[in-house]
Amino acid sequence: MGSSSYLVSRALWVYVMLVSVSAAESRILLDKEECHLDDLKGLKDFKASIKSDTSGRLETWTGERCCIWDGVSCDNKTGRVNKLYLPGFITSGDAPDQTYMEGWLSPSITLMVSLEVIDLSALSHLTGQIPPQIGFHLPKLRELTLFGNRLSGSLPESIGKLSNLEGLYLHENSFSRSLPSSLGSLKSLRRLYLHTNQFSGAIPESITNLTNMLSLDLHQNSLTGNIPADIGNLQFLEELDLSNNSLSGTIPSSICKLTFISTMYLNTNNLEGEIPFPTIAGQMSALKFLRLQNNRLSGRLPSAFGFLTSLQRVSLSNNQLEGPIPYSLGTLRSLSELYLDGNNFSGQIPSSLGHLSQLLALTISNNMLQEPLPHELSLLLNLQILDLSFNDINLSVIPEWLLGLPSLSQIYLAGCGIRGEIPDYLQKASSSLQVLDLSENHLTGEIPTWFGNLTQIWSLNLSRNSLTSTIPKTITNLGSLTVLDIHSNKLTGTINEVFHIQSRFEGSLTYIDLSDNRFTSGIEQIGRGSQTGIQYLNLSHNHFNGRIPTLIGKLKSVDSLDLSYNELSSQLPISLANAHSLERLKLQKNQITGNIPNQFLNLRRLKELDVSDNLLVGRIPLGKPLSDFPRSTYSGNKGLCGKPLDPCMS
Ligand SMILES: *[C@@H]1O[C@H](CO)[C@@H](O)[C@H](O)[C@H]1NC(C)=O
Ligand SMILES: *[C@@H]1O[C@H](CO)[C@@H](O)[C@H](O)[C@H]1NC(C)=O
Ligand SMILES: *[C@@H]1O[C@H](CO)[C@@H](O)[C@H](O)[C@H]1NC(C)=O
Ligand SMILES: *[C@@H]1O[C@H](CO)[C@@H](O)[C@H](O)[C@H]1NC(C)=O
Ligand SMILES: *[C@@H]1O[C@H](CO)[C@@H](O)[C@H](O)[C@H]1NC(C)=O
Ligand SMILES: *[C@@H]1O[C@H](CO)[C@@H](O)[C@H](O)[C@H]1NC(C)=O
Ligand SMILES: *[C@@H]1O[C@H](CO)[C@@H](O)[C@H](O)[C@H]1NC(C)=O
Repeated sequence: MGSSSYLVSRALWVYVMLVSVSAAESRILLDKEECHLDDLKGLKDFKASIKSDTSGRLETWTGERCCIWDGVSCDNKTGRVNKLYLPGFITSGDAPDQTYMEGWLSPSITLMVSLEVIDLSALSHLTGQIPPQIGFHLPKLRELTLFGNRLSGSLPESIGKLSNLEGLYLHENSFSRSLPSSLGSLKSLRRLYLHTNQFSGAIPESITNLTNMLSLDLHQNSLTGNIPADIGNLQFLEELDLSNNSLSGTIPSSICKLTFISTMYLNTNNLEGEIPFPTIAGQMSALKFLRLQNNRLSGRLPSAFGFLTSLQRVSLSNNQLEGPIPYSLGTLRSLSELYLDGNNFSGQIPSSLGHLSQLLALTISNNMLQEPLPHELSLLLNLQILDLSFNDINLSVIPEWLLGLPSLSQIYLAGCGIRGEIPDYLQKASSSLQVLDLSENHLTGEIPTWFGNLTQIWSLNLSRNSLTSTIPKTITNLGSLTVLDIHSNKLTGTINEVFHIQSRFEGSLTYIDLSDNRFTSGIEQIGRGSQTGIQYLNLSHNHFNGRIPTLIGKLKSVDSLDLSYNELSSQLPISLANAHSLERLKLQKNQITGNIPNQFLNLRRLKELDVSDNLLVGRIPLGKPLSDFPRSTYSGNKGLCGKPLDPCMS
């Protein structure tokens, strides 16, 4: 009896043990899937503030087991939410998909205090702000990715508390106001992307404390003031983009302060005749991409610029930099793109640039550089794009060696003082030339028939010269031509062929400027070829006579049409009203007769109209946009009346 009761109680005890063990086990399991109440509230509030989610991910957010919800991950020890991963751009399977979320970013996300990663990028329609207290609540955050939304407000001061933050990606939003100096406390930060916002004020000096940074991108904001003087402290930086701001002052010399000088440059085994200091490293010796274009930077380029030996792409375009282009640039052996256009650089182009054997693009237009053009540039065997336009370079002739550059496909030599006829040796480049700009020179003689061999060319600009020939018939072979600008020459004859260019792609010709020449015929060919792509057509200041062709209405894409200053007679074709993309229509100074057709009221996009100094009569059709133009639009005609002119008599 006693023993049986012992057995029973023993069995009961074992049973109780078993039950309590499995209960404990199952509680552990549940703990993993059920949420901490704060996390649950954070996620539910997030979901509640999203009005629509085309990805369907938030639909899975039901019940309380948040760790299994789409886009949510939990720490496998604490069970707390550590990752909120809902990027709008989803690559599932092989078809990438752009999804949207409309709504606002709930500040409750800061309840999820164990968050390490937040990715709410490219949801496109997400509004709201970064919660001001974020830095106090999310101490574990390593990555904050919110780019490609409609977020606004400022970058909160508290952000500086996020001492584990490695990546801050807030680009392509509408953030504004100045950058907090607390950014300088983000000791772990490696990538800071704030571009394409409306941040203003100065770049905080404290940013130079971020010595682990690899990438700093602040382009396309409204930042003012100087580039921080100690920017060179960012010695691991690979990418610095401050372009499209309003930064002023000089480029700090700290970017290329020497830190390490190898003795190798004393090595007399250097038999290759190269410049003997490529092993000197500058301060930011890891810098590969430097983009400072479209600012107001002034002063000289530091002469030690060439010590930034990792540089691959440099753009300093459109600033107010002056002084010489440093000779040391020739040491940048990895450089593939160098854009210096739109500054005030003077002196000569250094011959050392000939050492940049990787160079693909060199643009130094719109400076004050002088000849001679160093012959060493003929060593640039990889060069594809060369723009020397508008300097004080007086070339007189196109250097023949230039055409020998095997990779050159885009040549810009506008305003380079080139005289005489277009040289035959230009044919050397005929099979590879894509862009040729010889505008604003003193070219005379003819457009050679061999131009028809430039079968790759998509942009040809011979404007503002003194060319006297007709347009060669071979021009119809230029199947890739997109831009043809030959305005302001003394060209004669017909423009027939232009409208019969055998476009390789239907309607690829989009820009045609034949204005200010002595052309007399061919206007009747408008609308007869594959012209659906034409956006800009300027035939003004020529000697065209006869009627405006009725097929002109087929130019569905034309937004600028200028036939002014010719001898066109007859009436305005009603079909012109079908060219409904028109924004600028210039027909002044012709002998156009008849009425303005009522159908012109369909030209809804018209912003500029000039029909003055013709022989037009009758009532100006009443309504937008025609009635809204100034009187000068209609002045000097034979008998126009009605708004905006004086009322008609009867
Ligand atoms: C828990 O998470 C850590 C870090 O995320 C991971 O390395 C580990 O393998 C996980 N353990 C289990 C049991 O899933
Ligand atoms: C920078 O500004 C220029 C000129 O205003 C503009 O054409 C260009 O698209 C801008 N670049 C970027 C990346 O926003
Ligand atoms: C360019 O520099 C010259 C002197 O070197 C100066 O006279 C001129 O004003 C400068 N132009 C601009 C646009 O800064
Ligand atoms: C350019 O050079 C040519 C020939 O050397 C010379 O005749 C011409 O006057 C020069 N033009 C200018 C503006 O210096
Ligand atoms: C052709 O060159 C002229 C003069 O340099 C310039 O004003 C014009 O904009 C250029 N045309 C095109 C289409 O770029
Ligand atoms: C230009 O094309 C013509 C025929 O269209 C051909 O006879 C001539 O050899 C070509 N010239 C060059 C330099 O390719
Ligand atoms: C057409 O060309 C003329 C002369 O070259 C120029 O004055 C006019 O502004 C141009 N028209 C348009 C619409 O660009």
